[in-house]
Amino acid sequence: MVDMTNASAIVTGGAGGFGGATARRLAKLGAKVVIADVADDRGQELAAELGNGSVYVRTDITDFDSIALAVKTATDLGPLRAAVITHGGPPPPDRGGRLIGKDGSRLSYAHFSHMVNIFLNSAFEVTAQVAEAMAKNDPVASNQRGVIINTASIAGFEGLPGQVPYAAAKGGIIGMTLTLARDLAPLGIRSVAIAPGTFLTLAYSRSMTDEEAQAKFGSTVPNPKRMGDPDEYATLAQQIVENDFLNGTTIRLDGAQRFQ
Ligand SMILES: NC(=O)c1ccc[n+]([C@@H]2O[C@H](COP(=O)([O-])OP(=O)(O)OC[C@H]3O[C@@H](n4cnc5c(N)ncnc54)[C@H](O)[C@@H]3O)[C@@H](O)[C@H]2O)c1
Repeated sequence: MVDMTNASAIVTGGAGGFGGATARRLAKLGAKVVIADVADDRGQELAAELGNGSVYVRTDITDFDSIALAVKTATDLGPLRAAVITHGGPPPPDRGGRLIGKDGSRLSYAHFSHMVNIFLNSAFEVTAQVAEAMAKNDPVASNQRGVIINTASIAGFEGLPGQVPYAAAKGGIIGMTLTLARDLAPLGIRSVAIAPGTFLTLAYSRSMTDEEAQAKFGSTVPNPKRMGDPDEYATLAQQIVENDFLNGTTIRLDGAQRFQ
């Protein structure tokens, strides 16, 4: 078990749906959390709510120096023992959708590379910088130095039409999770990914009411027949932090949701 008392944690997208719920749970475990996000108001409000020495650090995950500042802030607060990587990012430059659209136009390389950059490349960079910092920790009694949790998606498994870039990015997270666990095993650092189904976070509530989102997406979940609650993601993240034997795997969290 990674004891988070007097330790620090970093949560990218920490002011968002999954990130905020996870920051709250990590703070309850005793961690000082670096809320790494670009949403200044939400980030500062959350840091004040946690009130345990947790801080908001404006962190743009596309800017490596900005990631380094967030990691340095965390290590200054205490040994960095948990990282939860769950950011979104700016919208792509042009249309998404199927590889060849109804009008015959193709999906652009710019769109594909933007999505992979946000959801995979930046997750790699955060993972690498965090692992480098964790490697310098003294191990806890169970010989563990830390745990890194990435966020995949069921889109990485399901082959949903119109989602080539997102599926490629999330498939990349799934693919690297076990390899990371093996690379980091000698250092006592674990790597686990969560593949959420459809959760009611800001990603949805920006464009529709909660009721509309539940009616549209909750109905596609077999049981329970609703969208996921971000705290259900955070509860699993907490269990991953606490359970040393969870390593090298991607855990679906989706109410049995399947699209085929
Ligand atoms: N909500 C879902 O149903 C769902 C399902 C599967 C996977 N996911 C994944 O979960 C992750 C988080 O999603 P969420 O639903 O919590 O979304 P969210 O919109 O609630 O939170 C995302 C956070 O990322 C922040 N962010 C945006 N650009 C950033 C940048 N450049 N640098 C740092 N932070 C930035 C936002 O400000 C926001 O606080 C994403 O990787 C998403 O693909 C979500």
